[in-house]
Amino acid sequence: MTLLTRADLDALPAYVAGRAVPGAIKLASNEVPYGPLPGVVEAIAEAAAGVHRYPDMGVVVLRETLAERYGVDPERIATGCGSVALAESLMRVACLPGDEVVYSWRSFEAYPIIAATSAATSVRVPNNAEHGHDLPAMAAAITDKTRIVIVCNPNNPTGTAVRRADLDTFLDAVPANVLVVIDEAYREFVTDDGIPDGLVEYGDRPNVVVLRTLSKAWGLAGLRIGFLVAAPDVALAIRKVVTPFSTSAAAQAAALAALQQDEEMARRAALIVAERERVLVAARKAVPDVPESQANFIWFPVGDRATDLAGAAEDAGVIVRPFAGDGVRVTIGMPEENDTFLKALYDWTP
Ligand SMILES: Cc1ncc(COP(=O)(O)O)c(C=O)c1O
Repeated sequence: MTLLTRADLDALPAYVAGRAVPGAIKLASNEVPYGPLPGVVEAIAEAAAGVHRYPDMGVVVLRETLAERYGVDPERIATGCGSVALAESLMRVACLPGDEVVYSWRSFEAYPIIAATSAATSVRVPNNAEHGHDLPAMAAAITDKTRIVIVCNPNNPTGTAVRRADLDTFLDAVPANVLVVIDEAYREFVTDDGIPDGLVEYGDRPNVVVLRTLSKAWGLAGLRIGFLVAAPDVALAIRKVVTPFSTSAAAQAAALAALQQDEEMARRAALIVAERERVLVAARKAVPDVPESQANFIWFPVGDRATDLAGAAEDAGVIVRPFAGDGVRVTIGMPEENDTFLKALYDWTP
């Protein structure tokens, strides 16, 4: 058969989205369960009336609003079709074929895929015994081919987070010509003061890029919108390569409406955090080595029994996200949903 696509992509695992099974409880995709924030649906409906026109390609009003909220210059912001699209654009602006991208593993499953889109070489540094980033090993993995290092904080799927002193030391060790991408998709769920806010604490470093999303705490996963904050030249490069008009009119309008609901977003995030702590304590009765989580999910490091646990949860009507041979990620949902999962967990545990 004639090969019409790149042979090197054959070995690449496809992104496995959390499954949605009609009637089942979905705790598989790290979504927040409360529905859109107030005002969002109305803003989308209003934007819908104008969808025969292209959206504002410069995303000017939204970038200005984000800039004000986060205290940075709008020139330093780029938006995209989910933060994952921006991560992909970062690979494209920084990497030529054969360049290296260093990240912890296991981490966000999109990283190997997006690295491959620029034919970059993925350098995976195994998570430490606590299921978190091994930052000294990541620093040691940097070579003169490395263009990007990704710090996923908190880490998906393990929920672990790197601490301030460790990240300080790491950032000082990374050469100035290597981009450090701090992926903070779950920042709004962080409650431990020892976990640095990448934007506030490191955002001004020229080689640091902070990725944020409106998919999780802000409740806009279905509209696909994320943003990054970077040095002006890096943000400009991203705005050049990102697919034109890929921050849709509905996404821009919805993001503006959501950002006005700061307090409600924080209230909802606090509910999730309270549930996270409750579920964590309950889960450890069955699986004692569940690590602390700073995100809206928890990680069950059950190794070979991962698909078995996910199957048992599914039999009880709960869809979770297994990573075969490694563990299971369970998103925090409504209290009764979490209870249904916990019951399945207890029934499963011998
Ligand atoms: C660590 C991390 N980064 C980025 C994303 C992508 O978010 P989105 O593309 O929806 O903004 C996710 C989503 O699961 C994630 O877990």
